Amino acid sequence: MEKLVISGPTPLKGEVEISGAKNAAVAILPATLLINGVCTINNIPNISDVRLLCTILEKMGAKIVWNTPNEITIDTRHINTTQAPLDLTSKFRASYYLIGAMLGRKGEIEVGMPGGCKLGARPIDQHIKGFELLGANVRTENGTIYAKANGLNGAPIYMDIVSVGATINVMLAAVLAKGTTIIDNAAKEPHIVDVANFLNTMGADIRGAGTDVIKINGVSELTGNKTYSVVPDQIEAGTFMLAAIASKGDLLIKNCITKHLESLTAKIVEIGGNVEDNGDSIRVWYSKRPNKAIIKTLPYPGFPTDLQPQMGVVLSTANGTSIINESIWESRFQYTEELNKMGAHITAQGKSAIFEGVDELFGAPVYSSDLRAGAALIIAGIAATGKTEVYNLEHIDRGYENIENKFRKIGANIERVSE
Ligand code: EPZ
Repeated sequence: MEKLVISGPTPLKGEVEISGAKNAAVAILPATLLINGVCTINNIPNISDVRLLCTILEKMGAKIVWNTPNEITIDTRHINTTQAPLDLTSKFRASYYLIGAMLGRKGEIEVGMPGGCKLGARPIDQHIKGFELLGANVRTENGTIYAKANGLNGAPIYMDIVSVGATINVMLAAVLAKGTTIIDNAAKEPHIVDVANFLNTMGADIRGAGTDVIKINGVSELTGNKTYSVVPDQIEAGTFMLAAIASKGDLLIKNCITKHLESLTAKIVEIGGNVEDNGDSIRVWYSKRPNKAIIKTLPYPGFPTDLQPQMGVVLSTANGTSIINESIWESRFQYTEELNKMGAHITAQGKSAIFEGVDELFGAPVYSSDLRAGAALIIAGIAATGKTEVYNLEHIDRGYENIENKFRKIGANIERVSE
């Protein structure tokens, strides 16, 4: 078993390069199944979810060549099965995108129920509702999803809840359907726009991604023969922005789209942090103890739930009492128990948590419960006095490329150690 051993406190200083967006890449890879051709994807994050998806696609008949650690060429002309390897698909969340893509490509798929971070109930009823409105038949038996359609026909689909996954999945299924599909009450995250841009680059006809109404005019096929570059990861960028404040540092975060971070930037300024927005990079630095804040996570462009734990670290040593309301997930405060082991004073109750700011955190052995909780605990270890050991790194490696090297390059005293 591996752990990260961190000694603090260390103010993080210097420049950090942001990788391609995990939540775009894990949708774009399944989307290649819609292409009867070859395409190249660069700026792809080299994370375990991406490598796992490549393994799944190869087992389904795709040919993948890694041109560099962050660029692949994928040939999906010879997909030879409608069954995704059930033992692999339950290891992460994004396997559910195989349903929309394979319904579009082959009209059929058998795939295990998706796994992913334990954040409470993670139903997929809106995905299924969309597929059924397009004409598919979907049933779940013994943890396996069977979806089948004799041709898909475009339809108007109103999402009962704003859902990133359902919006992308229905978009995938609609791309090759006959006629026009309208997704209303769609999610607007930057990774949804990126998936739409990828598909349009390969020959699809999708308009309105990034707004709450997306229109997809079905086309007969996607031919590929193009190269696409994945959008920078706004959640990774935000993670380092909050690390700059939590560690009393000064960071220049490069290769990001600052427009995607407006809700976080506003909050950092509100609590007394300093921000210099250069469009494709952003400088964030600490000058005084953060003020207390009230945070409510919301779908984009609201404050992202995927930055909630990282903000929690900042608020645990802010001036006064802060509150976080987590409106997206039922259970995304497990990390607060770990921060309390480090001397924080947090009371989590259901979808809300109260942070009574303490003067400092102290190193301790802590356990990551999910991807972003893990990132938060790394930040806490860098800011805390003493030695911190972060366990359950498999969660972190799913979504952050070379995490300890990136932190070490900006001054962190951090080592990955095998127990
Ligand atoms: C995506 O999850 C991300 N994962 C999550 O990021 C992120 O937290 C979430 O979007 C919200 O931004 C990937 O993109 C792989 P949702 P997803 O469907 O698509 C409810 C990370 O750290 N809902 O937008 O699963 C759901 O329970 C991960 O990178 C239904 O009720 O999230 C939740 O309350 C963690 N029925 C809300 O909608 C459905 O059919 C939003 O979920 C679908 C969702």
